[in-house]
Amino acid sequence: MHHARFITFEGGEGAGKTTQIRLLAERLRQMAPDARREVVVTREPGGTPLAEKLRAVILSGGARQLGPLGEALLFSAARIDHIDRIIGPALRRGAFVLCDRFADSTLAYQGAKGGVDAGLLKAMEKVALGALAPDLTFILDLPPEMGLERARRRRGADEADRFEGEDLSFHAQLRERFLAIAEAEPQRCRVIAAAMPPEKVAAQIWRAVDEKFLGRSAEARQWA
Ligand code: TYD
Repeated sequence: MHHARFITFEGGEGAGKTTQIRLLAERLRQMAPDARREVVVTREPGGTPLAEKLRAVILSGGARQLGPLGEALLFSAARIDHIDRIIGPALRRGAFVLCDRFADSTLAYQGAKGGVDAGLLKAMEKVALGALAPDLTFILDLPPEMGLERARRRRGADEADRFEGEDLSFHAQLRERFLAIAEAEPQRCRVIAAAMPPEKVAAQIWRAVDEKFLGRSAEARQWA
């Protein structure tokens, strides 16, 4: 896939991924007509009718009895449909694809706290993704207490979903696992401090996208 522009957003609960994806999509859509391309915004688990059904089952806790391995398989199955029907075709059309969570979430969530062995999760990832890999991944990082508080405020009186409802040590491990992924793949991953105001987070994200995909140097950007 030439000139692929596959950007994923990862992190724990309440990190502000959805807001940042919206801001980046708006900015990309406002680019000068000669540089503008299609922008596809999607999410996991989900993005297709079948994957959204699997999402509902998993996040309601309906697959908990399968254990972490079974849940990881369901996330992977949903991902296969999402890649086949949405992500792959959009990249082949030359679109920017912005995805709210992707394979790193499986490595972090299904591997945390006595979950599935990391080697096994990597093997499953290979099966689901084939040759596909994100070109750029933002890991929105913040202390789990802060993220959980934000997520609690956002959901109001609704019940916590399957993973938000895990204890603080689970969420602390998630953070470590995302940071370890970033350390292992510095070419692909950018860790962004998500406790900053959203416009500051957005500015850092834009800078990285600009450098990576629009090929503008820091000097050129100053005059843009
Ligand atoms: P979502 O509404 O996207 O949560 P958030 O707003 O925090 O991003 O719900 C997705 C939930 O599913 C979230 O708790 C993370 C979890 N998840 C996994 O455990 N494994 C995965 O592979 C994916 C994609 C998500």
